[in-house]
Amino acid sequence: MSRFMTALGRGTLGLALAVTALTAAPAAAQTPAQIQTAVDAAYTKYKTLNEGAVADYIPVLAKVDPKVFGIAVVTADGKLYTAGDLTTQVSIQSISKVYTMALVMNQQSADVILNTIGADATGMRFNSIVSVEWSYKGLGGSKLANAAEMNPLVNPGAITATSMVQGKTPAEIWGNISGFYNDAAGRPLKVLDEVYKSEAATNQRNQAIGMLMYAYGYIKADPLQAVDVYTKQCAVGVTAKDLAIMAATLAFGGMNPVTKKQVVKAGNVPEILAVMATAGLYDDSGKWLFRTGLPAKSGVGGGIIAVSPGKFGIAVISPPLDAAGNSVRAQKAIADISNALGGNPYAQTGSAK
Ligand code: DON
Repeated sequence: MSRFMTALGRGTLGLALAVTALTAAPAAAQTPAQIQTAVDAAYTKYKTLNEGAVADYIPVLAKVDPKVFGIAVVTADGKLYTAGDLTTQVSIQSISKVYTMALVMNQQSADVILNTIGADATGMRFNSIVSVEWSYKGLGGSKLANAAEMNPLVNPGAITATSMVQGKTPAEIWGNISGFYNDAAGRPLKVLDEVYKSEAATNQRNQAIGMLMYAYGYIKADPLQAVDVYTKQCAVGVTAKDLAIMAATLAFGGMNPVTKKQVVKAGNVPEILAVMATAGLYDDSGKWLFRTGLPAKSGVGGGIIAVSPGKFGIAVISPPLDAAGNSVRAQKAIADISNALGGNPYAQTGSAK
């Protein structure tokens, strides 16, 4: 049993991610050569790092190659800076949650997400059922003081967001989701069938979460249909390049900087990034924000996206995960590159007058 599987199965809090020492962000790199140098340096530094374990609670994920390691950065002009593996696809997994949330906001409003699901960290694992009990007290139940709430990036909130996507039939709902992901990536993405089948056969916990969210009135549609569509969205195959373009779409006001298509409504981008900052790396989100200041999102397929608003979108794929379910190499490589590029939005300086 891997460390990650053990943590999930037994509900332990898991090992805290070792927080690397903070170094002051140097002046922002401006030239293409400087950006490429930062990408190459992170690739070389972490290529041989052998920490973490691939997820195995979805059986097919246990078979992925732990050596896969790809990095991509996309800037405002749509230019890509890359290193390593750019052809292998991993399943998008929880990174999909960001784009389904964005689609619901596009179709309805940002407030419908806030009012239906919430925007607070649960402080619990991404598939926690206890968090649903707490959240229910906060949003619709006995309203106990200090009750925790929910967000669209943990499984209960994400399955609820999927249930809110408009469409008359499951096929139409799926068409809306997959079309939206394709626009964000700038190419037609495909479901990795083996991943979808493997998770669909073993996702009883998510089915239970869906039923609970329905019982408590968060989900108003067919909960098992929502879980099935959610499972499919998690199985979409993506390269590091796809993910970096998807991240860059959020870095530049919702417009895909490669295709120049407005995908996400610009007015919703700040709220999307706020939810990513709050809960993108699950119960390690605070530590991640402390180190990088970047809104980000991880997936158990091994991908992480991060957004430096107005500067770049970045993605790394590398399947071995830490105990919280976040790719070890991806966290380190993104932190290094962003630091080299002055990407931390909280590190911007202005002079008092
Ligand atoms: O629902 C699940 O468990 C997976 N399809 C996605 C979980 C995930 O990616 C959490 N990521 N860190």
